[in-house]
This record gives sequence, structure tokens and C-alpha cells, in this order.
Amino acid sequence: MSRLFTALLLLRQCFAYDTLLGFNSRPLVETRPLEEIYDAALKEGGTVTVWHGGDEKNQQESLKSAFESRFPGMTLNITVDLSKYLDGKIDQQLYNNNVFVDSIILQTLQDFPRWQQEGALLNYAPVGLDKVYPAFKDSISASWYGYSIFFWSISWNTRKLPDVKSISSYGDLLKPEFKNQLVLTYPNDDDAVLFAFHQIMQELGTKWFDGLLKQNPRWVRGTATPLTILSAANYSQSATFTSFGGFNPGNNVKINFPNDANFVSWPQTAAILKNAPHPESAKLFHNYLLSSEYQRTVSLSVRQDIKSSNSLYPDIMHIPRTNPTAFARFMNDRITVERLRFFFENRLGSAQGLSPLVDDI
Ligand SMILES: *[C@@H]1O[C@H](CO)[C@@H](O)[C@H](O)[C@H]1NC(C)=O
Ligand SMILES: *[C@@H]1O[C@H](CO)[C@@H](O)[C@H](O)[C@H]1NC(C)=O
Repeated sequence: MSRLFTALLLLRQCFAYDTLLGFNSRPLVETRPLEEIYDAALKEGGTVTVWHGGDEKNQQESLKSAFESRFPGMTLNITVDLSKYLDGKIDQQLYNNNVFVDSIILQTLQDFPRWQQEGALLNYAPVGLDKVYPAFKDSISASWYGYSIFFWSISWNTRKLPDVKSISSYGDLLKPEFKNQLVLTYPNDDDAVLFAFHQIMQELGTKWFDGLLKQNPRWVRGTATPLTILSAANYSQSATFTSFGGFNPGNNVKINFPNDANFVSWPQTAAILKNAPHPESAKLFHNYLLSSEYQRTVSLSVRQDIKSSNSLYPDIMHIPRTNPTAFARFMNDRITVERLRFFFENRLGSAQGLSPLVDDI
């Protein structure tokens, strides 16, 4: 009797230990074809609720329309808001045991390993996950993975700067022709912009930043705003290095990568919540995200077997002056993040203006 009891106790401790440390969290590995998951998603009601980090309400319209036209009858109920606010709201749902979001895609990369440890994420490997670079995923339990590489190049408007052939360094931006021409996101308002400044100043020092301030940049909130402003004919500013427009950011806009300091790139990271109300629909969405069909449409794929359409930059691992794994380490180092944020707040003041999510520029 007592031996049986001891055995049971041991067994219980094993389970507790495994749960606590995330052991024995082997994922469910998807084997169904997309069409079969699609059927299951439709039967479930045909809606998947997604929270996506970003700074413009309509930033993910192309993802929504790609998904909905690929899977008629499905609705991608997607909300875009700042990752730094969405993550706390996810914590609240978890704490209150009231998860109503199915899928989360955020820039706050430090949250995902924590949520995995807390058992908040679904251990589920979509088809194609095995092709994703190991550095961009939770290889053991498949609870999170990057779905697309975001990166910030130097971008400028060739109409507004007809004499500029190329901009190939951050140092170039201190030349007289860029006086009053720069539009930049406050580094103290967005941690990925903060990391961009940090990486530049590790190479070029605060002297570079002092020179930058002398150029009288226009400081804005949101990382889409600089590209919007430099692209528009009715604003005077013409160059930035804090916007993501992919390889083809629009008419009259050229991009280049810097040769004097690293630029920021990272896998925008996705997970399905374990208590997602629409698990089959979330699975359909994530299988679509990692499918070669979708991955061929993004600028830089997270999959090793898919090359970009840009022959100069075939894949994220072979672009000079960027390390796509560095951002996650930076985000984990909250002490450095806070110290840097206040360095810039002291120089620039707190971010002014409405968030572009509240109102357009
Ligand atoms: C869409 O998502 C929001 C949360 O972002 C949620 O409040 C709303 O109920 C969802 N709509 C549907 C139809 O599921
Ligand atoms: C520039 O044009 C846009 C779109 O037409 C408009 O919303 C914006 O207010 C204009 N800005 C200025 C400074 O004139």
C-alpha cells in the first residue's frame, strides 16, 4: 500500500517537474494537407483572431486579403497595435483565464520563451516548420517561430534628392545635403529603433549622434511614418533609416544597406495560444504563413529553402552588416534597453505627437 503510494507520489512529482521545466513538451506535428485543415477551420466557424504588432491600423491589410482570397469563407480578424502594449494585454487574458485571441505575432521577442515556460502556447509544428532556420524557432516544442524577416534599410526619395546616387553608410547622412532632409522614429518610443541607434553608435559613437542632431531631423512616432513622409510629394523630408518597406518600398524610393554599422533585422515571431478559441483556424493561418506559397511573397523568408527575389540579397543569412539573431538578445536585456531609452529621452525629450494608431500624420 505505502509502496504504491510512494510510486504514485513520485509519478506526480515527475509530471509537475516536466510541466514546470517545459520537459516532455513534444509538439503535435501537422501532417494534413492545407485543404483538410481549411475544412476543419470552416466547420469551426471560419474566423481566426490575430493580434499583430505594428504601428499603423492598416499595416496588415495585404496579409488579410492574401489569406482571405486563398481561403474563401475564412475571416482574418486581425488587429494591429504596438507589440509593447499587446503583450501586456495577452498576459491579462492568460491571468484571467480568458483567452479570446487565437494567434499572436509580435516584435517583443523576449515574451515568447517566457510564455512557453508558462505553458501558455500551443506546442504545434505547422507543415514547413522543419525548414525554418533553427535560430528563429523553438525547435523543441514548436511553440513559437519567426514568420517573416523585418528589416530597416536606408531609404530615400530619388525625386527629392536628384543629385544623390546612393546612400551607403550612416556616416553619409551627416553630409550637408541631408540637412533638414531626415525623418526618423524616436528611438525612445520603439525598442527596435532603439537597437538600430545602439548598433550604429557602437561603431560610430555619440559623435555621430551629435552630428545627426545638427542635421535637424524630423522626429516622428511609428516606424511606417518616415516612409510615408519621405514618399509624399507634399512633405520636404526625403530620407530615413527607421522604416521597413521591403526591397520595393514604392515609386521613387530607393533602398540600400549601410557599410559602416550593423542594421536591424529580426524574425517577426508568431505563436498560437494554447487556449485559443479557434484552434483549427489558427492552425490553418500558421500553416499558410510557413507555406512556400506564402514565403515566396515576403521580402526575406524565414525558410532556408526559399531564396528572395532580390539576387543581391538571396537570404537573410547572407547579407553583410546585419545579424537577425541579435535583436532577440537585445530585447531580453531589459537593463540595457532601459538605460539606452533614457539616454535618448534625455537628448530628444519624450516622444511627441499622437501615435499613428490614434490618428494619421
Ligand atoms: C475580433 O477580434 C477582437 C479582438 O481583437 C475581438 O474582440 C472580436 O470579438 C473578434 N471578432 C470576432 C468576430 O471574433
Ligand atoms: C499631404 O497630403 C496628404 C494626402 O493628400 C494630406 O493628408 C496631408 O495633410 C498633406 N500634408 C501637408 C503637410 O500638406
